[in-house]
Amino acid sequence: MRNLIVYSSLTGNTKLLAETINKNISNSLIIPIKEYNNEDFDRLFIGYWVDKVFPSIEVSNFLKNIHNKEIFMFGTMGASDKNGYGEIIKKNAESLVPEDNKIIGHFVCQGKLNSKLKEVYEKRLENDPNNENILIQLNNYEESQSHPSKDDLKNLEKELSNLDN
Ligand SMILES: Cc1cc2nc3c(=O)[nH]c(=O)nc-3n(C[C@H](O)[C@H](O)[C@H](O)COP(=O)(O)O)c2cc1C
Repeated sequence: MRNLIVYSSLTGNTKLLAETINKNISNSLIIPIKEYNNEDFDRLFIGYWVDKVFPSIEVSNFLKNIHNKEIFMFGTMGASDKNGYGEIIKKNAESLVPEDNKIIGHFVCQGKLNSKLKEVYEKRLENDPNNENILIQLNNYEESQSHPSKDDLKNLEKELSNLDN
């Protein structure tokens, strides 16, 4: 079985998941989405970063042309997975997969938010020190810095171990 891992990643979080999959799956080829050149495969591992509650646009566009394949999806998001946010992301991502494919697994976890965002939040807080939403965002920023964590990668490996070889 030829396994193709295609991913989009701006800051490395999703790339780390893609590399973890590559280490755990035999007969696999790993390609950043921008370098995909019609490589053939039996099973696709497609990785995305979350952009406004949906997979990044290049992944959405890529999925439109995939038919009759087994697909394992994976993604990273800036938000914590508390409160079921990950389930919303998964649902949105899966809605982009043409129906003749079979989704065989889906993993999402938090990824480190860009440090520029911290500066933005801190500036906002200076102007509005009692704004609770900004404090929540800052807390989430701090939480995001330890992700994808070792436990996240272990959980991903656990999902991969359920797949046929
Ligand atoms: C333009 C933009 C939009 C984003 N939208 C969301 C979002 O809606 N929800 C979320 O949880 N994270 C959002 N993020 C955070 C990224 O999904 C997150 O940092 C991800 O781990 C980045 O992955 P990468 O390192 O592979 O690029 C957004 C980031 C950017 C730059």
